[in-house]
Amino acid sequence: ETIQEYCKRVRELANELLKGIMESLGLEESYIQKAMDLETDSHQLLVVNLYPPCPQPEVVMGLPPHSDHGLLTILMQNDHVGLHVRHDGKWIPVNPPPGSFVVNIGDHMEILSNGKYKSVLHRAVVNGKATRISVATAHGPPLDTVVGPAQDLLDNENRPPLYRGIKYREYLQLQQSNQLNGKSCLDHVKVNINDTCCK
Ligand code: OGA
Ligand code: NI
Repeated sequence: ETIQEYCKRVRELANELLKGIMESLGLEESYIQKAMDLETDSHQLLVVNLYPPCPQPEVVMGLPPHSDHGLLTILMQNDHVGLHVRHDGKWIPVNPPPGSFVVNIGDHMEILSNGKYKSVLHRAVVNGKATRISVATAHGPPLDTVVGPAQDLLDNENRPPLYRGIKYREYLQLQQSNQLNGKSCLDHVKVNINDTCCK
């Protein structure tokens, strides 16, 4: 029951944030609801990560560098720092105030915004002293929705699509059938600019 309630509330939070992101892109707040079929359904995945104390934390990686699938991941964690995000070529430890959420941009927001929002490359490290727990909740469209760049952000001459459309389900399968490896899944859906020029 607690998890059910948590999922419902965190989904509401994600939907509010998505509205704001649409506005920041110059789109109507409800754009994403229509474009991603969010009115009918949505996909939410709750992952609980447990990182026990590790006697040799310097040689162990909790979660290798990756970006998340989906539009937004909302992350809650106990008091131990472990999440790093990649920024300007460096790993930056994320140290959120107690009781706050960390919100990560996912690959599908990068696709939908045609690269205006970038999914965040992140990893989790372990420590020698304490158990760290995190709860990551990914939010995406229904599994059969084809996610491509928002039509309203494109024009053929100046702003061509940088990603091809792909069913959310296929993208999940792609990610889950490979080792986590940076942002390599996004490379599968990137449009090669040289290809489009030659067509
Ligand atoms: C994840 C993730 C980070 C963390 O579950 O995708 O990136 O801090 N977790 O546990
Ligand atoms: Ni992640």
